[in-house]
Amino acid sequence: MSRFRFPEIPGSQITPESVWQSRRQWLRQAGLLAASAGAAALLPARAALASSEWGVRNPAFSVDADLTPEKSVTTYNNFYEFGTGKTDPSTRSGKFRIQPWQVAVEGEVLNPGVFDLDDLKRLAAMEERVYRLRCVEAWSMVIPWNGFPLEALIRKVQPTGNARYVEFVTDVQPDAMPGLATRIIDWPYVEALRLDEAMHPLTLLAFGVYGKALPVANGAPLRLVVPWKYGFKSGKSIVKIRFVEKQPVTSWVKIAPEEYGFYANVNPEVAHPRWSQATERQIGQGVFAPRVPTLMFNGYADQVASLYAGLDLRRNY
Ligand code: MTE
Repeated sequence: MSRFRFPEIPGSQITPESVWQSRRQWLRQAGLLAASAGAAALLPARAALASSEWGVRNPAFSVDADLTPEKSVTTYNNFYEFGTGKTDPSTRSGKFRIQPWQVAVEGEVLNPGVFDLDDLKRLAAMEERVYRLRCVEAWSMVIPWNGFPLEALIRKVQPTGNARYVEFVTDVQPDAMPGLATRIIDWPYVEALRLDEAMHPLTLLAFGVYGKALPVANGAPLRLVVPWKYGFKSGKSIVKIRFVEKQPVTSWVKIAPEEYGFYANVNPEVAHPRWSQATERQIGQGVFAPRVPTLMFNGYADQVASLYAGLDLRRNY
């Protein structure tokens, strides 16, 4: 088994704990932390509406921050099938084929089947939602995604009473994905959610970004976006969705379970063994932009904390 780990974060990018502790203390005293925690879902949308094919922006899903510039969103990526460099997904993905594309839905469902992309797109009206994406590497972006809740597909296929988890298997095209040669991951890249997490209205099946079809670097032609979890839970270029009874062994849990948990809920209180998760670097804001405090569940605590009532989030990281 490969022992690859997410790269070390350079010390220069990490705020010393004493600094973020005192900054948090100050923010708490100023009442700002609490205000910003609830702000994610409440603030009105800022930018113009997207074109109708990709849906209009839903003001109920916005973020109190500027959008990350589109160029950063599409050229600073993690998609290890194309290489581990941030620009590899945009520069080394020219041969990747996204047509025709099918997604097999199987396992514990009453209506299994193979959906082509147009079948999937017809399942629900597309809308634009601005979500924060927080990577486990302690950087973040604020991104307008185009898609609809995964719940629409789940209701169509009807899970049986045995379905407790949903597994997402992503594509493998050896001739078009130069990163596969390194065997960092036991390909294909696999991620999974608990059924209730998958059904949560925030869990988005995304087909577009910035009002256009997803570029390959961002997971064309369809990917998941689970905004309260570290980015690695959001599988790109999905080809299979499997409903199962037992918790699947997902790619990063298989590689380093002590570093990357199954839940991977964004949690500033639980440090990664090799770096703090208390603050984040905002991609696209310039090198001098200050790091900002990371919020519990990435700012979505009001909507998702109840999913984890009674679960020890230090052990189930
Ligand atoms: N999906 C696949 N198939 N392969 C990957 O390497 N990387 C994950 C996730 N989905 C990854 C993936 C990680 S680590 C992150 S942070 C997000 O995609 C990044 O999404 P973005 O590059 O669109 O911002």
